[in-house]
Amino acid sequence: MYSEEIMKSIKAVEANRESNIAYEPARMTAKEKEDLLAAYHPDYKQDEFEVLKIGPNKGEKVPKELAAVLQAGSRITADAVDLTKPDYDVDVLVIGGGGAGSSAAIEADEAGASVMIVTKLRIGDANTMMAEGGIQAADKPNDSPATHFVDAFGGGHFAAKRELLSKLVCDAPEAIQWLSNLGVEFDKDEQGNMITTHGGGTSRKRMHAARDYSGAEIMRTLRDEVLNRGIPVVDFTAAIELILDENGNAAGAVLMNMETKELLVAKAKTVVIATGGAGRMHYQGFPTSNHYGATADGLVLGYRVGAKLLYADTLQYHPTGAAYPEQIFGALVTEKVRSLGAKLVNRDGKVFMHPLETRDVSAASIIRECNDRGNGVNTGSGLGVWLDTPMIEKIGGEGTILRRIPAMHRMFAKYGIDIRYEPILIYPTLHYQNGGLDINVDGMTTNINNLYVAGEAVGGIHGRNRLMGNSLLDIIVFGRNAGQNAAAKSKSVTVGALTLKHIDEFAAMRKEAGIDGDEVSPKLLPSYTHGNPRLENK
Ligand code: FUM
Repeated sequence: MYSEEIMKSIKAVEANRESNIAYEPARMTAKEKEDLLAAYHPDYKQDEFEVLKIGPNKGEKVPKELAAVLQAGSRITADAVDLTKPDYDVDVLVIGGGGAGSSAAIEADEAGASVMIVTKLRIGDANTMMAEGGIQAADKPNDSPATHFVDAFGGGHFAAKRELLSKLVCDAPEAIQWLSNLGVEFDKDEQGNMITTHGGGTSRKRMHAARDYSGAEIMRTLRDEVLNRGIPVVDFTAAIELILDENGNAAGAVLMNMETKELLVAKAKTVVIATGGAGRMHYQGFPTSNHYGATADGLVLGYRVGAKLLYADTLQYHPTGAAYPEQIFGALVTEKVRSLGAKLVNRDGKVFMHPLETRDVSAASIIRECNDRGNGVNTGSGLGVWLDTPMIEKIGGEGTILRRIPAMHRMFAKYGIDIRYEPILIYPTLHYQNGGLDINVDGMTTNINNLYVAGEAVGGIHGRNRLMGNSLLDIIVFGRNAGQNAAAKSKSVTVGALTLKHIDEFAAMRKEAGIDGDEVSPKLLPSYTHGNPRLENK
């Protein structure tokens, strides 16, 4: 099925395999990394960004596609719903049914609050479910939260909010215990000890995993816990606008049934945004590893009521998205493949970088190899480099791939590629939103009272680049934190008269800034209609 050119390249990879296994590529210096990123990382392509004309981050640049939804009009007018007759009235409204939302809801319920989850798809249709490689926690004798902090702080270009990152790493061991107690089956050795591996940028082996479907295992467990507790889940229903009260505090959301388009009002003492990421925005035309609903909705909801964003100009392009076959273009090839020993190899079978540089550096290095140095493999629909998976069995012994990364094996086997014996073609894929809504250590936005955020919709925990396994960790640590604090806060909240007057205020700002397009947001679902209006999601 491969072209002659690809077959020739595979031969070169095979011929060099033994020497490549023995070869220890040098780590890049800080200066080399800086120069590489500036020249090749998509975050540095200035013409792909736009300066915001309105809103709390006015004057700052964000990806063009994000600017369009942040500055778009509302899907409704301020008088579209009767705010005096709410359909739901709860202490804690959680928007989003992924790992962060579920963790928040579980803890809010545990604290005795009345809590409800609303999600535009189904509970568990989320990036959490798609996460593969694992979750970091410094819980081994040779490790510590301080070491975890240093790794993550450096990996994020020293830009993380220290108090958030500190909470992340300090609460990590307990997060693993919590998940274990709920029923997550982490990989263990014969003595029952957790098996841990390295990820890019880690100085200790602290990645806990459930094979290479860690996120699915975690989401399965959280979903069961939500359902077993009887926490109400309103699915196929999107939050399309936040509601404030007369004092400017978050006080609920306008919901839209995704099928019937019926509008509903949810009143709440506190609101948790846990809407996840933005891969389906396809920034700069990149494919994505994200689930179907990852459209930056939470950023839009927050921004329109005045919540500030932090680092919304920085995205994560996972170095190893599948570049071939086309049916799985952009799908995640977990970093665990490199943790287990597979190296990145170019068209001529040459190792061109250390396989466990941080993600931004790895992605930029692959882009350079393909687009500048001319060392990429032509896949027929683009370029890619090899991830030499057969190295894993040679290093770890026969059976390692089926034991440690069975999902990777299955994903490629469907298309006749056996990764135990053949290398695979990869290219960076849009994976993670590093930036998001700005929160304090309680999980509340820094400038809208009673509005909490958790998970990928938060900005600042990881700085300007995230290490593998710190996202599954942050949805648990900050999901639980938001749920606990939102529940506690709800006890002292008296909600004033509900209002949607921010919609009119935002419309006035748009007008004044000369923004006159008819685009509305949040986007809710991506559009793959190629301009055919009859296929458009309205
Ligand atoms: O490569 C991976 O398995 C992805 C992990 C992550 O984004 O944390």
